[in-house]
Formats: sequence, C-alpha cells, structure tokens
Amino acid sequence: MSSKSYIVVTGGAGYIGSHTVVELIYHGYNVIAIDNLCNSSYEAIARIEFLVRKSVLFYNIDLRDEKQLSHIFSSYNVQGVLHFSALKAVGESTKIPLDYYDNNIYGSITLLRVMNKHNIKTIVFSSSATVYGDATRFENMIPIPENCPNEPTNPYGKTKYVIENLIKDLQKSDPTWRGAILRYFNPIGAHPSGLIGEDPLNVPNNLLPFLAQVAIGRREKLYVFGNDYESHDGTPIRDYIHVVDLAKGHIAALEYMNSLESDVGLYREWNLGTGKGSTVFDIVNAFSQASGKELPYEIVGRRDGDVLNLTADPSRAKKELNWIATMTVEQACRDLWKWTTENPFGFRVDNYHWKVFN
Ligand code: NAD
Ligand code: WQD
Repeated sequence: MSSKSYIVVTGGAGYIGSHTVVELIYHGYNVIAIDNLCNSSYEAIARIEFLVRKSVLFYNIDLRDEKQLSHIFSSYNVQGVLHFSALKAVGESTKIPLDYYDNNIYGSITLLRVMNKHNIKTIVFSSSATVYGDATRFENMIPIPENCPNEPTNPYGKTKYVIENLIKDLQKSDPTWRGAILRYFNPIGAHPSGLIGEDPLNVPNNLLPFLAQVAIGRREKLYVFGNDYESHDGTPIRDYIHVVDLAKGHIAALEYMNSLESDVGLYREWNLGTGKGSTVFDIVNAFSQASGKELPYEIVGRRDGDVLNLTADPSRAKKELNWIATMTVEQACRDLWKWTTENPFGFRVDNYHWKVFN
C-alpha cells in the first residue's frame, strides 16, 4: 500500500462532488473519486484533470458493491470519505421509493461497513435542508437553525434523515467515529472556469438548470410554480448558494475534524447556506441580467411539496468551521451562464439531438 494518503469522494463525477474534488486538490489533498455514472459522465473527471493539471484516480463502481469498494480501501491509505453519491430527485423519489431507499441507504450502509472494516472513521455526509420539511410550521424557525425538528416529507428527504441517524447511531456505538453532516440549501452556479457544472440528464427539476435551458434556447419558457405565496412577489423563498462556496464548506468540515485531538470523536450537523433568501422572480431577474436574455415564463399551479421559505441560519458553520458563503447569486448566475454557453448540451455529446428553439 502506498504511504500517500487519500480522501475518497463518492459521487465524485456529480455536480457538487466534482466541484469539491477541485477544491480538495487545490487544498493539497489526494483524491480517489468513485461514481457509477448513473447521473454523471466521465467527462467531468477529465475536465477536472484539465483544470487542476493533475490526474485524478477514478473508479467506476456502484457504492453497493461491497467487494469492489473494499478492494479500494485495501489498496490505498484512505484518510477519510466525502459521501455525495445518491439519487436526488424529490419528485422521482415519490414514484420509485424502493430505488431511492436501496441506492441511498443501502449504498451508505455498505460504505460505512467497509470504512469500519478498514478502520477509516471520518465521514462528511451530503445531507439536505429537505430534512427540515416545512420549517414555517413553527414560529421563529426562519432562518432555520440546525436544531429545527426534522420532518422530511418525501422519500428522498427520508433517506437523508435515515442516513444522518445511521451515522449518529454508529458514532454513539463507537465514539472514535467522526461524522460531519452538511445540510445544503439550494446549490447553484458552476465553476468560474466554465469547465464543470450541473448537467441534468432529463428535464431539469431545479429552477436554475431549467432557466439556463430556457436562456440557451433548449426550452421555450419557465413554468413558475405558484405566485400566491406570502413573499414580496408571491413566489417562494430559497437560500441559493454558489456551488464553489458549498465545495469549500467540505474542506472546512474536513479540516475541523482533522484539527481535533486524535482520541476525540464527533457527530455534528451544519447548515451550508448564505442566510439570504431570494424568490423565484429575484432569480429570474438575476439570471436574465447575467445572460442578457428575456426569460419567458408562465405562472402555473403550486408544485406538490413546495414550501414558502427555506432560508438557512448559517451561524453555526461560521462559528465552528470558520466558513461563510462569500459569493453572490449574481456571481452564480454569471458562472452558470458561462458554463451554459460554453457547454450548451452539458458534458454529453449524445445530447446534441435536443431541440433548439432559437
Ligand atoms: P449528482 O446526481 O450530480 O451527483 C451524485 C453522483 O452520485 C452522481 O454522479 C451519480 O452518478 C452518483 N451515484 C448515485 N448513486 C450511486 C451509486 N449507487 N454508486 C456510485 N455512484 C452513485 O447530485 P449532486 O447535486 O451533486 O448531489 C450530491 C449530493 O448532495 C447528493 O447526496 C444529494 O442528495 C445532495 N444534495 C444535493 C442538493 C442539490 O440541490 N443538488 C441539495 C442538497 C443535497
Ligand atoms: C426552487 C424554487 C420552485 C423549478 C430542491 C429539493 C431540495 C434540495 C434542493 C436536494 C421553488 C421554483 C422550480 C421550475 C419553479 N435538493 N421552481 N419552476 O425545491 O427548493 O429544493 O433542490 O436535497 O431537497 O427539494 O429547489 O430548484 O426545484 O425550486 O417555479 O421549473 O423554484 O417552486 O420555489 P427546491 P428547486
């Protein structure tokens, strides 16, 4: 086994994973990226290598394949794991919950089992603000602090809730474990280089990728899911965070855990958000400005499961991890537009058959 130590990144070819691999390398870490490419492309890894001028170890395996995963942990000196891999579409999770529970929970169990077997006990887990459910059901819970009670409302969110608790229980049973739970709010934008970004396989579920496809002419208009909420313009409020800021939050969590005395374990949740809310129309305006395009839209009915306001209280991460989001929504829109214009069909050559409107 080589004496060089590595951080394993599951889901390393995905949207947030790929941006975090870049930051890890910039911070001097050696990385092993694992991904089954079910929602990503190897091209993301190739672009990372071009960006950082270094090769990245990559394994195309499914996280649930215990034998192959174990082989990686036996072959390298692994220091810790950033665990991004998951299925993540809320709507889809209500249609195929078995696949979501199997992929997300069984994948995490397999990972934790293999880590335990190899005595690697440091994990940073990609959780989500979705675990809070509708925080407006309480008074005084907006912005949302980490101690807001959890009540996920869809199978995807429930998998995050279960995995958080899995790590919590494991840490209780063996206090030498270190688990950092990062609850992301709404990640947006792309790498400022324009080389990597979000590359949705089908019709985008999320606001910014959808808007980007409208601006580039792949879709006719945005459907705004309701304008009868109690906000300044009637549309829901979210805490949109630049993906590079989010990626840096993982370095902060890793460094925090590495700074602990060697016999100190940890289980802790941190919100990664900006603390600032924007409505759908605030975002439409910001993206219209960034792209220089009029963005046609139509108001349609509310989307099932949408809530009025999901804005983070990020003060715990500031105080304990010394991390804050520094980039604006405007910057994220500019970076997304650069990524979109330079890669109008994402990473995938087979996307070139998509209809272009203008
Ligand atoms: P993504 O789909 O781009 O990345 C996830 C990656 O995991 C993909 O590359 C996919 O191919 C891979 N993967 C999925 N199942 C796998 C398996 N069984 N084995 C190996 N690889 C597998 O998604 P993302 O937006 O980068 O999200 C990363 C993480 O952050 C996920 O856990 C997601 O739930 C969480 N998260 C995302 C958001 C968001 O809005 N993007 C918000 C909160 C939390
Ligand atoms: C944002 C706003 C929509 C699309 C989701 C997950 C959450 C987390 C982040 C993973 C909402 C409106 C959207 C469109 C619209 N992911 N919208 N038309 O729902 O806040 O969060 O991604 O953990 O769990 O639920 O993000 O980008 O889908 O929506 O009007 O075509 O944009 O109603 O107000 P959301 P989103």
